[in-house]
Amino acid sequence: MSDQRGQRHQHFETLAIHAGQEADQATGAVSVPIYQVSTYKQDGVGGLRGGYEYSRSANPTRTALEENLAALDGGRRGLAFASGLAAEDCLLRTLLVPGDHVVIPDDAYGGTFRLFAKVAERWGVEWSVASSSDPRAVREAVRPRTKAIWVETPSNPLLGITDIAALADVARTAGAKLVVDNTFASPYLQQPLALGADVVVYSTTKYMGGHSDVVGGALVVDDEALGEELAFHQNAMGAIAGPFDAWLVMRGIKTLAVRMDRHSANAARVAELLAAHPKVTKVYYPGLPDHPGHETAAKQMRSFGGMVSFQVAGGEQAAVDVCDRAKLFTLGESLGGVESLIEHPGRMTHASAAGSALEVPADLVRLSVGIESVDDLLADLTQALG
Ligand SMILES: Cc1ncc(COP(=O)(O)O)c(C=O)c1O
Repeated sequence: MSDQRGQRHQHFETLAIHAGQEADQATGAVSVPIYQVSTYKQDGVGGLRGGYEYSRSANPTRTALEENLAALDGGRRGLAFASGLAAEDCLLRTLLVPGDHVVIPDDAYGGTFRLFAKVAERWGVEWSVASSSDPRAVREAVRPRTKAIWVETPSNPLLGITDIAALADVARTAGAKLVVDNTFASPYLQQPLALGADVVVYSTTKYMGGHSDVVGGALVVDDEALGEELAFHQNAMGAIAGPFDAWLVMRGIKTLAVRMDRHSANAARVAELLAAHPKVTKVYYPGLPDHPGHETAAKQMRSFGGMVSFQVAGGEQAAVDVCDRAKLFTLGESLGGVESLIEHPGRMTHASAAGSALEVPADLVRLSVGIESVDDLLADLTQALG
């Protein structure tokens, strides 16, 4: 796929640090400079020096990130946006026109659900919900005008697993694009394009940035024509990643592989502790052998990631109390940073899905397991559970 760039033979850890990251032509700076600029001097009308004319259309710092993103997912085109939802919005307006239909999963980030239910629907886009862990259910949800099948794997917040290759077959037969939100896994743990997906979506706010200091989003595709259409819409709609945000995401990506290894190792220990705890009624972690998606996850992921959810005996208030008692786990939304976070999805990240097919259990707690000492994390959870 990326043979033309001569990079495909390199390993992920190498690409993460080097793809798109040429030393600066003018100074030799090893870190790509933050080109904090809106416009570029032209040598005569139309005489562009480096191909840049205006930073909404393209900016050298964003280009470096976009080339890096494409290489990491083995695609031909990467595009960086102001947020994950901006990336999703650009994608759905590129793929869908009024009257088209999209199948969305029954477990997904609440904001993605809100984008379809409260925004896209007003513009005439139809959607229906199916469990993406069941390819037959998705096939049955397909309509003549289904243009996209949207999945999130692992999903937010129930850590559901979708067999990407199986869904790619369903999408191909339906003549629809398979869109995979790969935010929880990151390209280090999972490569959706290689498994047959058409579009990979990221909230780069999460593991890609990795330090809870930037909001961003990305799309990666291998189809050049689709990449061009997306780039047209990215420029026409304008929700681009700014130069400093692009730089922060790029800096995060350089350590993505080592961080993900530690996130996964710590989360596996946390899941083990929770599974054995008398106050925990159910643990959602694809690394546990009794998770319904365990085998599929083991087949398509390098390891199982840093997200763990669980239900607490005693109902909603007991779950809220656990969140309130945690000390080292910071009570907050978002995920994927070096620091551990805890939250109550029903009242926080997934409040917008209340009353819908995507409503989450009231006694659910979600953890973003960070890369601190795992012993300290286990001790904090033990005291928070009482
Ligand atoms: C799986 C997933 N996709 C997309 C998003 C949206 O990303 P952003 O908050 O960067 O707009 C989120 C945010 O939490 C998410 O968890």
